[in-house]
Amino acid sequence: MCSPEHFAVEYAINPWMDVTTPVDAQLAVKQWDRLRETLVGLGHDVHLLTPEAGLPDMVFAANGAFVVDGHVYGARFKHPQRSGEAAAHRAFYEAQGWPFIAPSETNEGEGDFAYLPEAHGGLVLAGHGFRTELPAHAEAQEALGRPVVSLHLIDPRFYHLDVALASIDDENVVYYPGAFSAASQRVLTQLFPDAVIADDSDALAFGLNLVSDGLNVVLNTEATRLAGKLKAAGYHPVPVELGELKKGGGSVKCCIAELRH
Ligand code: ARG
Repeated sequence: MCSPEHFAVEYAINPWMDVTTPVDAQLAVKQWDRLRETLVGLGHDVHLLTPEAGLPDMVFAANGAFVVDGHVYGARFKHPQRSGEAAAHRAFYEAQGWPFIAPSETNEGEGDFAYLPEAHGGLVLAGHGFRTELPAHAEAQEALGRPVVSLHLIDPRFYHLDVALASIDDENVVYYPGAFSAASQRVLTQLFPDAVIADDSDALAFGLNLVSDGLNVVLNTEATRLAGKLKAAGYHPVPVELGELKKGGGSVKCCIAELRH
């Protein structure tokens, strides 16, 4: 995770960002701290990346890389405003001795990649359409040695896979069908017949931008309806307030890069 000390909406690269809306960076840090404490309280180790002035979206740490089986596939950001973030992530992994694969293709890390270790023997889901480009899916498959299933995102409000779909345990997902092309919806139905289905109000509340340990599902407080659906499906929703970061177009999952040994 990376503290939002320098968080601001200085440019607009997704439909949620409005440069005329004031952002309270102090409140953002407070809310982000609660998220960090929540994860620690659930028993997770949280490593911190040092935020850098001039990189106001660095709090969205999910975008910096994608890690599977201890191998790191680096990010290459679409927008120049964020491209400087990739080096900070790379330095973090290299300092910890993780094998790092530098990307040639445009991709925004866990923003557009998800991993399900127990689905079909270990499956990567990958989004394209707005940020990550299709050739990066093939590059990730070669880098990580896991099958990558490409999914086409078609709604600009859900510009990253992680605002439209999330793994809720090692083999199942929750997703908002409307974010995907008709063909990609069929692919998801085939792969995940037991998926939890979200509706547009769940998605607009950033409910899909969640992290789960298989039981506890940490998600945005606004997503009360989705929390109810997850509860009915046997999960334990843990709501966290992240209203300030929503102004940047992100929530819980965007703030977290998962380290998969
Ligand atoms: N303002 C950031 C951007 O548009 C938000 C990134 C959100 N991160 C995510 N993993 N969805 O790039």
